[in-house]
Amino acid sequence: MIRVLLFGDVFGRIGRGAVRSFLEEKKNELSPDLIITNTDNVSSAKGPTLKTYRELDEMGVDVMTCGDHIWDYPEVLDILSQKNTKLIRPYNYPAICPGKGFIEVEAKGQKVIIASMLGRVWTKEGLDSPFYKTDELLEKIDSKIVIVDFHAEATSEKYAYAWNFAEKITAVIGSHTHVQTADAKILNGFTGYMTDVGFCGPQQSVIGAIPEESIKIFRTGIKTSLKPAKGLAQINAVILDIDEKSGKTLKITPINESDIDLSQT
Ligand SMILES: [Fe+2]
Ligand SMILES: [Fe+2]
Repeated sequence: MIRVLLFGDVFGRIGRGAVRSFLEEKKNELSPDLIITNTDNVSSAKGPTLKTYRELDEMGVDVMTCGDHIWDYPEVLDILSQKNTKLIRPYNYPAICPGKGFIEVEAKGQKVIIASMLGRVWTKEGLDSPFYKTDELLEKIDSKIVIVDFHAEATSEKYAYAWNFAEKITAVIGSHTHVQTADAKILNGFTGYMTDVGFCGPQQSVIGAIPEESIKIFRTGIKTSLKPAKGLAQINAVILDIDEKSGKTLKITPINESDIDLSQT
């Protein structure tokens, strides 16, 4: 059995601090073979920088996925071009874009593929179809264990994608909405699924941001960039227990911890 621990969108300094303290406290007990974090909002409310990438790397994170915020900081190009980079960008950006959309890692001597896909409903223009791009990806890889972080807004798109690849992909885990959904399940006894794993960051917030600033945007229609809220933190993650012979998910266990006080750390 291979155990994967996947954290939802890590949001800013509080998110990184919460992941660090969670791993310090629980890593031995949970003993994951692979740790994945979504880094879509890891630097303030934005995508990865060299500093935040390094921080997660030093915590022992094995793979970093991302989403619509991947290109926020130009220095992400330096991270994506590093020889043994742990960061992948969404696979269905046009092939001309820098970086790779999937990564091959080893866990307990088994090849594991992690891929990042971005949904097309209410997100970005110019993306290729995650459906056809995944068909193409599955043709070119030869691993039984494939995990996809499907970063998207629409529940229907996430479900349709997961059912399209049921029994072909080990797990499809949704991210991006920052709210953990109560629908963790195994499709057709094979593909681990949840619509959204949720996020790691400030709990007293509007999906991570200071409530007053977000309210102002909705009351005025004037869009400004949001700052992370302060205070207590939350951790949203999921554990996948995977059968290495068949590549199927045996068990999917959501993690949802709140009221985490990081003021002493
Ligand atoms: Fe996010
Ligand atoms: Fe996102």
